[in-house]
Amino acid sequence: MNTGLAELREKARAVLDPVHYDYYAGGVGDEVVLGENEAAFRRLALLPRVLRGRATRDLTVDLPGGRLRLPVLVAPTAFHRLAHPEGEVATARAAAAAGTVLVSGVASTVAIGDVVAAARSVDATASVWFQLYPQPDEAVTACLVERAERAGCTALVVTVDSPVFGRHRRDAEHGFHDLPAGLATENMRDLPGGVRDIVMSPEVSWDHLDRLRETTSLPLWLKGVLHPRDAVLAVEHGVAGVVVSNHGGRQSDLAPAAVEALPAVVDAVAGRVPVVLDGGVRGGGDVAVALALGAAAVGVGRPVLWGLAADGAAGVGRVLDLLRDEFDHVLALCGGRDPADLTRDLVVTRGRGVS
Ligand code: FNR
Repeated sequence: MNTGLAELREKARAVLDPVHYDYYAGGVGDEVVLGENEAAFRRLALLPRVLRGRATRDLTVDLPGGRLRLPVLVAPTAFHRLAHPEGEVATARAAAAAGTVLVSGVASTVAIGDVVAAARSVDATASVWFQLYPQPDEAVTACLVERAERAGCTALVVTVDSPVFGRHRRDAEHGFHDLPAGLATENMRDLPGGVRDIVMSPEVSWDHLDRLRETTSLPLWLKGVLHPRDAVLAVEHGVAGVVVSNHGGRQSDLAPAAVEALPAVVDAVAGRVPVVLDGGVRGGGDVAVALALGAAAVGVGRPVLWGLAADGAAGVGRVLDLLRDEFDHVLALCGGRDPADLTRDLVVTRGRGVS
């Protein structure tokens, strides 16, 4: 892990209520996937290319729904006001200042309109995307989509890896189920039928996705795809992009490490839409490996929460700066001029030699 990120994590651990630290840090089941997401990156190495670099590197990436000044976006995570009183407002400001996208979660503790306003107060062109779980009651989904559109979000991220809630042992041990008094999932107010809770349903299907897509002209990303055949289906169902993710090890503890699932998805998609990876990215080297394996960008979840807990918007800004700086350095060391110079032939598995 990048040492700056490790310091922020330790500072977060020191300031957070241990129950909330564990909510952020923990995973499902025996936390096998949680560990594997990071460990799998350490099993991979990058073969540098020589004599082809450039003094200043261009880190910009264009994605449906926004331009990123670094190939790192903020993955959707719930309940930012548990980490810092300003919550998602601070995260939004930091992401906008860094020139990247915040994917704001449906389970945010600040309403989406206020999140977008915070980003735009820093940069009028800032892009905020809205993450949601397709709800079995489609009137609820439609209402959430309309709110995101009205707020000015520039893409939707539909999370499909959660047919049921993951079972988080640490939360069960602490008895952590609800937000403390004074905090709420602000996007879930005043919904059709008086719904207040996010529902996970194993019966949500591709038909729901099709109908959701018909309600909006925003680019639609599908998050939580691991099987290459689902990636193909996603493209056939008209998504603008695919996020390879195992939810940071918080859903199935039998899933492979995210980076291990990435190449087959990239091959299946075959360049028709961009692929983003999240899970276990803890330094600029991980960003470079993911891009070399075909990701257009990566998402970071927990490191942003550590930054937010440690020092609010400044802490999140520090996380993004550290990742940008380290990624740029690794790119230079590999003879890269821009992210497109990171190609799959550079990636080798440690201990297996180079062919
Ligand atoms: C998440 N993640 C998540 N994803 C999503 O689509 N909707 C959500 O509400 C949440 N909530 C959430 C809460 C917390 C505390 C964490 C840590 C994660 C998953 C997130 O978007 C992303 O997939 C992972 O966090 C990526 O892994 P890393 O970067 O945390 O290792």
